[in-house]
Amino acid sequence: MYIPVILGTAREGRRSEKVANFVFDLVKKAGLDTELVDVRDYRLVATDNTEEVPQAKKWEEKLLRSEGLIIVSPEYNHTYPGELKMFLDLLYKQYFKRPVGLVGVSEGPWGGTRGVQALRLTCLALGMHPILEAVYFPLVQDQFDEAGKIKDASYEKKVNGMLKSLTAQAEALRSLFPRTA
Ligand SMILES: Cc1cc2nc3c(=O)[nH]c(=O)nc-3n(C[C@H](O)[C@H](O)[C@H](O)COP(=O)(O)O)c2cc1C
Repeated sequence: MYIPVILGTAREGRRSEKVANFVFDLVKKAGLDTELVDVRDYRLVATDNTEEVPQAKKWEEKLLRSEGLIIVSPEYNHTYPGELKMFLDLLYKQYFKRPVGLVGVSEGPWGGTRGVQALRLTCLALGMHPILEAVYFPLVQDQFDEAGKIKDASYEKKVNGMLKSLTAQAEALRSLFPRTA
């Protein structure tokens, strides 16, 4: 089962990268096929919905192969980063009937909950099924040691719980709505 992990900010110095790498390692450890998809590699100067630009073609090839997605995103001004929105808007119907697990990041105490709520609505508009079990990383600046290792072991359990629900929902959706493409 192929479940890519999307890193939702291109900001220089982004702390969400450590979170995305942590989640990505756990997806691999769970025996799933995965890949880190970095919005930095899909940047555009303006929104494009032609599905013709190389960024759209590259993303479509991965998205159509996927059974579900994980999006790791920081909260910027109570929503999620603009480059993540432009990335998601590259495609539309290709997202339909895919479950998505959301991971929020912030340096404040709430872990990006407002960003995740906003992202949840966008995922619904794209025909995806955002799952309940989101994971939040508040105070991200304190969560990793010098070597980039997570300090609080309980996050492994939280991410694995999300993965369990995500893969079960991917299987259920796949059997209810067999893919034609
Ligand atoms: C433009 C911008 C807006 C931000 N807005 C919020 C916010 O609304 N709430 C919040 O908790 N943190 C906010 N932050 C701080 C982020 O929590 C912080 O950058 C954190 O390290 C996670 O994002 P990063 O991956 O960019 O590092 C904001 C940061 C930026 C760059």
